Amino acid sequence: MQVILVGPPGSGKGTQAKSISVKYHIPHISTGDMFRYHLKNNTPVGLEAKTFMDKGLLVPDYLTNQMVDLRLQEPDAKGGFLLDGFPRNLEQARFLDDLLKQQGRRLEHVLWIDVEDKIIIERLSGRRVCNKCGNISHIDHLQSNRCSCGGTYVTRVDDTLEVISDRLKVYHDQTEPIVAYYQAQGKVRVIDGSLAEVDVNKQIYEVLSK
Ligand code: AP5
Ligand code: MG
Repeated sequence: MQVILVGPPGSGKGTQAKSISVKYHIPHISTGDMFRYHLKNNTPVGLEAKTFMDKGLLVPDYLTNQMVDLRLQEPDAKGGFLLDGFPRNLEQARFLDDLLKQQGRRLEHVLWIDVEDKIIIERLSGRRVCNKCGNISHIDHLQSNRCSCGGTYVTRVDDTLEVISDRLKVYHDQTEPIVAYYQAQGKVRVIDGSLAEVDVNKQIYEVLSK
């Protein structure tokens, strides 16, 4: 199964991806997580990406596309994948279509998790992420900053009000147009991301189980 999750920052892509990946036995591939991993390990990719991520801008396509190309060649992605946060502009969408064509496969579902900006700002300003296992939570649901895995819940560096607003602008200007691109291919399924996590999950499973 080849699936992509499209949605504004904070729409719940990462939250939903974890359970979809387990249920359908497909790797969860988040380009944001990959860049953060590179950054943590001080690789050249991480250092280049940082200058863009800190400002809420898209990392250049040549870096992002190459990283995704390599990742999709790994054995665990041969039987399918769940892409989270890629593609994020029309160039990346065309790149992915070409890449999959060369590999003799195609995207099956584009899940568009739609959430209005007002909700996004509330979610992202309270988001906490475990620095060890990557579990995503929100300050309203945490009793302490200790995760059950032993890690610590921290705030992402790009979750400041200023950067959130820049990320939303980038989303509306550059990412939203890919919805029309995939609609023309008849692949988009709209998911109401403003509902509770379980209800968002239910909508996604309904689409994927068909
Ligand atoms: P990335 O890491 O992909 O960030 P993003 O798209 O901005 O999305 P987020 O991870 O912030 O949100 P999410 O939708 O995963 O929401 P989450 O589940 O965490 O990218 C970061 C940066 O990397 C980019 O800005 C860019 O610089 C670079 N980058 C990445 N990919 C790139 C690409 N393809 N090209 C170029 N550059 C790229 O949930 C958010 C919060 O809401 C949490 O607190 C959660 O608990 C809560 N929540 C989730 N669901 C619900 C719900 N249903 N109800 C209530 N609360 C909820
Ligand atoms: Mg995410």
